[in-house]
Amino acid sequence: MGIKFSLAAVFGLILAAYFGVGAAGLYHFFGVTVPYIAIVLFLCGVVYRVLKWARSPVPFRIPTTAGQQKSLDWINHARYDNPSTKRQTVVRMALEVLLFRSLFRNTKFEMKDGHRLFYQWEKWLWLAALAFHYCFLVILIRHLRFFTEPVPFFVQGIERLDGFLQVGLPGIYITDAVFVLAITYLIVRRLIIPQVRYISLPQDYFPLFLLLAIAITGILTRYVVRVDLIKVKTLAMGLISFHPVVPAGIGAIFFVHLLLVSTLFAYFPFSKLMHAGGIFLSPTRNLPNDNRIRRHINPWNYPVKVHTYAQYEDHFREKMVEAGLPVEKELEEAPPAAS
Ligand code: HEM
Repeated sequence: MGIKFSLAAVFGLILAAYFGVGAAGLYHFFGVTVPYIAIVLFLCGVVYRVLKWARSPVPFRIPTTAGQQKSLDWINHARYDNPSTKRQTVVRMALEVLLFRSLFRNTKFEMKDGHRLFYQWEKWLWLAALAFHYCFLVILIRHLRFFTEPVPFFVQGIERLDGFLQVGLPGIYITDAVFVLAITYLIVRRLIIPQVRYISLPQDYFPLFLLLAIAITGILTRYVVRVDLIKVKTLAMGLISFHPVVPAGIGAIFFVHLLLVSTLFAYFPFSKLMHAGGIFLSPTRNLPNDNRIRRHINPWNYPVKVHTYAQYEDHFREKMVEAGLPVEKELEEAPPAAS
């Protein structure tokens, strides 16, 4: 159900742009209106999500830990699995964000021979996720050539490095091939591992199909149905300088690519893709575990009016004794009356 729905949604988008531009001539709508709406939704959505996270009170240290916490000097401290200082936490975050360290530690377990539990090496998910994210980054950086004039040196450098195989004309980018392979792996994994498929929802499939469609339409634009890149650059520069123009003669395939990219941007803040920002605001990751080193006082504490049991009993002791209820302090004997 989730798969069919997500596939249908992506195909719907492709058809909408293809016929919207090709048959109905809605160039301005797909070339200007939709990208602007997408960017506004992206920016407002990201700011909204970040502010919402930032407003959640985190009065105590709640990092997830996966190793020995700082203790006596002769006990080995797992610095980056259980950081106790800000520096160690920064290193832990950097390892997580740049190398996906927690995913690297992933293991697979299986029952074998009926009752024996086996932990197995499982790094493919980590490898595919890392490859996918880094290729995505490189592709985005390469796309800066459409939005900058002159094109910065690092964009040209990355382009040269990425196309160093010099296969085909125009040259094949390594990141394009790896990006498509990695997303395909992520999709296939979701489909063929029963436990993963069972917990997969449309919101898991949709971004994967969307990203794959973006890559395929981009690749088609570059290698198969070529478009005039000078005109694409005029459109892109017009968008970012707020003087939008849509030059005549850009092929429909480009507008399909642009609509899919716009959908990705508009959808991003409201989806699981927002983990890109969430990781930095995650108190289970960005805090040192120094609960036993420093006393953390909840800054939101306010004086609470309390009524202790002793006060309660003082109040009701006579009535409790009368009713035969046990009391902690006996009733004081009344002093003998003066004769
Ligand atoms: C999430 C953002 C985007 C992704 C993931 C993406 C992905 C891709 C990929 C994988 C390719 C294949 C060739 C290459 O890697 O250069 C491509 C090509 C292309 N993309 Fe994108 N793209 C994105 C955004 C955009 C935007 C905003 C534009 C609008 C200017 C655009 C315009 C193009 C064009 C014109 C090509 C053909 C490039 C050529 O012929 O050299 N893309 N895209």
